[in-house]
Amino acid sequence: MLGLEVLRKMAVPFVEDWDLVQTLGEGAYGEVQLAVNRRTEEAVAVKIVDMKRATDCPENIKKEICINKMLNHTNIVKFYGHRREGNIQYLFLEYCRGGELFDRIEPDVGMPEQDAQKFFHQLIAGVEYLHSIGITHRDIKPENLLLDDRDQLKISDFGLATVFRHNARERLLNKMCGTLPYVAPELIKRKDFHAEPVDVWSCGIVLTAMLAGELPWDQPNETCQEYCDWKETKHYLTPWKKIESTPLALLCKILTESPSARMTIPDIKKDRWLTKAFKKGVKRTRMSSGGASESSGIFSKHIRSDMDLSQKSSAYSDEKMAYSSTQPEPRTALSSWDSNPSHIDKLVQGISFSQPACPENMLLSSQLLGTPGSSQNPWQRLVKRMTRFFTKVDAESSYSNLKDACEKMGYAWKKGCANQMTISTTDRRNNKLIFKVNLVEMDERILLDFRLSKGDGLEFKRHFLKIKKKLDNIVASQKVSLPAT
Ligand code: ADE
Repeated sequence: MLGLEVLRKMAVPFVEDWDLVQTLGEGAYGEVQLAVNRRTEEAVAVKIVDMKRATDCPENIKKEICINKMLNHTNIVKFYGHRREGNIQYLFLEYCRGGELFDRIEPDVGMPEQDAQKFFHQLIAGVEYLHSIGITHRDIKPENLLLDDRDQLKISDFGLATVFRHNARERLLNKMCGTLPYVAPELIKRKDFHAEPVDVWSCGIVLTAMLAGELPWDQPNETCQEYCDWKETKHYLTPWKKIESTPLALLCKILTESPSARMTIPDIKKDRWLTKAFKKGVKRTRMSSGGASESSGIFSKHIRSDMDLSQKSSAYSDEKMAYSSTQPEPRTALSSWDSNPSHIDKLVQGISFSQPACPENMLLSSQLLGTPGSSQNPWQRLVKRMTRFFTKVDAESSYSNLKDACEKMGYAWKKGCANQMTISTTDRRNNKLIFKVNLVEMDERILLDFRLSKGDGLEFKRHFLKIKKKLDNIVASQKVSLPAT
C-alpha cells in the first residue's frame, strides 16, 4: 500500500498556525511552498532558501530581500517579510493562485491575442515601475510571471534583480545573467550595456511566446540560424508567420538588435497594437477549453532553466554601495494589502499562537473542495494548474500505470519520498529535464501533480502532455474532476 496522506501537511517550523501544504516551485536556491493558515485559510507563498547551498548564497539572498523591500506595485508579487532560522531564510510572498503565465500558453499556438495584449500590458506596467525605481529584473520569462485569482499578472523572483540607477545616476551592467532564449544580443556581445533595453527585449520574447506558443531562437547571435533569419526579416518563417501584422510590427521594434534603436517603454505604451480595443466577447480561441491544453503541439526552441546565466556571487559586491546609504524604508503597506493582516504579520514574526483551530478548518481538503461557498479556498484553487489530472483508479494502480508508462516511453524514474516519483529524461536539445509527480488523495480520488525540478518549462509541459496522453485510460474526465474556479 502506498499509504497516501490526504495532503502533505507540515507545520511552518516556527509558527504553529500555518501548514505547508504544497510545493509550488523548486530551484537551485531551494523551494517555494504554499503555507495556509489553519484558522483563516489565508495563503502565503514561502520561499525557503538554504544558505549553506552555495557560498555566495547569504549575499544573494540579502540582496533579494533588500530589493523586495523596495517594491510596491500591483504587477509585482508582494513581499510580506522574511525570517531567518539558522541557515534557512524564509521569504513570505503573495500567493498567486492563478499559477504561471506559462500555463496559459498552449504549445505551438499561444493564447488569444486579446489575452496576450492584457498580460503584455500588465508586464510592461510592472517593468516600467521597476525601472522607475532603478531596478532591473534581469530574468523576465513566463516562468517568472505569475497570475493572481483575477488573472492579474505579477512579476516574481527577484533573485537576479539589481540596481542600475541610484541617486539619478545610471550604472552600466556587465554581468551575463538571465536565460539564453530571453537575453538581449548586447548581453552576449558587449562588455557593458544598459539595463532597461535588456528587460524590454525579454518582454518581446515573452510576447512572442504568448502569440505563437514557441520561442524564436536558442540565443540571439550569429550562431543561431533562426536569429539570422529574423534579422533578415524572413517573417514568412515560424513563429512570425503565426503572428498578426500589428503585434508583429511591435515585435519588430522591440526585438531590434541595437539597444539604442530598440523601442522604449514609453513608446511601447503608445503602440497601435497595445492600445487597440478588442471587441468584447469576440475572442479567437487558441486554447482548448479549461485552460489545460490537450494539444500535442511542440515548442521548437527550448532552454534549461539551469542554463540561466546567473552570476549572482560577484553581482553583489560591486553593487553594494547601492544599498548601503539610503536604504528605502521597508514597506509598511501590510495594512493596505489585507484588511486583517495580523495572521500574515505573525507568520513573518514567527509568533506561535496556539488557539484551537476552528472545526471547519479541520475539514479535509476533499470536503473543502465540495463545499459550496468555499470557492475562495486556496486548496481548491490548486487544481487550476494544468500539469495535473485526476485518475479514475486507486493510488496503487495510478502509481503502477505511471511507472509502466514511464518505462514504455523510455523515461528514467525513481520512487521518491512519500507518494512521489521523480522522472528524468533529456529534451530535444539534449538538455536534462527532471520533474516530480506527487500522488495526492483528494475527494477519494487520486491527483497526479507534475512539478518541474530542472529543465525548460516549455519542454516539461510537452512531456506532461505526452505522459497524460499515454495514461488516457486512467485519466478522469475534467468536467467531473475539476471544481469550477
Ligand atoms: N511559485 C513561486 N512563487 C509563487 C507564488 N508567489 N505564488 C504561487 N506560486 C508560486
